[in-house]
Order: sequence, then structure tokens, then C-alpha cells
Amino acid sequence: MYICPVCKDKLNRVDNSWRCPKGHCFDIARKGHVNLLTTAKHNPKTAGDNADMVKARTEFLDKGYYRPLAEKLREVAAEVLGSTDKPVIIDSGCGEGFYTAELSKVKNSQVFGIDISKHAVAHCMTRVHLAGITNCCFAVASSFELPFDDECADAVVSVFAPVCNDEYARVLKRGGALIVVSPSPRHLFELKAAVYDEPYENKPNSYGLTAFYESDDKHRDIRFEYKTVISSQQDIYSLFMMTPYFYKTSEEGMARLKALDSIEVTCGFEIQVFIKK
Ligand SMILES: C[S@@+](CC[C@H](N)C(=O)[O-])C[C@H]1O[C@@H](n2cnc3c(N)ncnc32)[C@H](O)[C@@H]1O
Ligand SMILES: [Zn+2]
Repeated sequence: MYICPVCKDKLNRVDNSWRCPKGHCFDIARKGHVNLLTTAKHNPKTAGDNADMVKARTEFLDKGYYRPLAEKLREVAAEVLGSTDKPVIIDSGCGEGFYTAELSKVKNSQVFGIDISKHAVAHCMTRVHLAGITNCCFAVASSFELPFDDECADAVVSVFAPVCNDEYARVLKRGGALIVVSPSPRHLFELKAAVYDEPYENKPNSYGLTAFYESDDKHRDIRFEYKTVISSQQDIYSLFMMTPYFYKTSEEGMARLKALDSIEVTCGFEIQVFIKK
């Protein structure tokens, strides 16, 4: 399943490392994941979400505010995969594995999570160990250069993470599903209204998925929305830190945010299913 990020040959498990026939070798970390990111393309020390961002997202997700989305995503994946025997699912940009762990409940599945952040991937391992999950593997890698064989996957999932037409098409089997989760227009609108004078709705993304059916009956677009009360200052701050607005907010906006003790927000998601041509 894993391929060498240097020469693209198959990687084989040899003791505590993954090795290719040409001798490129990647050690398996004590926690059980592997770093398949080559320094030539990225700096693994600084790539992706940093330790603070990972901590904030983990604390927020573990409170369960987004659990309904995780369950809905698992249901959609199970439905799309239907009777596929031993489905292989890749969670691309998996963060700290909150959705990956839920996807591992799809019957007989083998789930692979990758993320460019080594902090996030280390946390994925802790999560699956604590939950006793044995059908998930994790690697530090880029969505734009996936460390997987051609046509090895039945589904690729991307939750609030990069979407890459060429790589996802390469690793998916023909007829395989790409499931993309993104914010709906009203996602967290009330939070934005509390912080900004002129809050705006999220605009739909366009991914340029030329290798997938985007507009006929093979493409599905599910809007999933619910309201929830974010019930502490800390949770509100962690949630805001997970959003792209965090780094664009003025001091005044941050002061308004920190003054909130609790807030009811719309959690709104688009779950889009694209099928590989
Ligand atoms: C908003 S977070 C979403 C994480 C997770 N899917 C979730 O919803 O909890 C985006 C994730 O994409 C990762 N990421 C960013 N660029 C990436 C890339 N080129 N390849 C893989 N992961 C990437 C970040 O490190 C981060 O964990
Ligand atoms: Zn190699």
C-alpha cells in the first residue's frame, strides 16, 4: 500500500521500518506512525498545523460538538462503499484523527490517515491506541504527493483539508469515491457575527475535479446542519483557533471573542461525494 516518497517503488515492512528495494528507509516512530515526507519538498519541522493548533482542535473535537458530523460522515462513507469487500479508505489531511477513528467503524475497513503535520499524526496514534482501534495506520505525508499505490483505495476522504484532483484520482480505483467535507454558507455564522461588524457567509469551493463526475447523478451534495451551544470561553477560543479567521482578526475582534462565555452556533457542513470516472 505505501510507496517510497523518493523513488515511488513499493515499501515493505522490515522490523521497525519501511524500506523500498532501492534501500530508502523510513523508521516507524515509537507511537507507530511513519514519516514519509521528504525534506526536499517540505520542511517537516514547520509543515502543516503546529502543536498549539493541534492541541486546540483536539480539545474542541473531544468535547463532542462535531460528533454528529463524524457520525454522518461515517454513514455516508458506509452507504457509498455499499457491499465493497474490505474497503480501503484514505483520510487525507486527517488532522488528529477524529474523523479517521470514526471511519474505522465502517465494516471490515482498513483506514489510512495522512497529514503534513507531524504533531497531528502523533496525536492520531495516541487516539487510536486509547480507543483500542487496530485498523488505522498513519503517516506524515502530503495530500499532493500521497505515499500510496495507484488505484489502491475505495474512498478518499478530505475534511476541511486540501483537495487534489490528480493525486486523489491516481490512488482511487475506478468508480471509487472522493468525499469532501467543507463549511456550508452558514457555518459558525453567529460566532462571526459576535466578532465582526460585517459577518459574511462562506462561499462554495470549486475544486476543479476533472477526473471525477461533478454534476450528474453520480455526484451527491449533502448539506448537514445543526445548532449547538458552545458552553465555555475556552471552547469558543479553541473553535475560533481552528478557523481560518483566527489569524485575520483585529485586537478589537479578539477582545469581543474573549468576552463570550457561551454562544449558540450553526454547525453547517457540505458533504460532497464525487465518483472517479
Ligand atoms: C483544518 S485542518 C482539518 C483536519 C481534520 N481533517 C479535521 O477536520 O479535524 C487541515 C489539516 O490539513 C493539513 N494539511 C495542510 N496542508 C496539507 C497537505 N499539503 N497535505 C496534507 N495535509 C495538509 C493540516 O496539517 C491540518 O491538519
Ligand atoms: Zn525508494
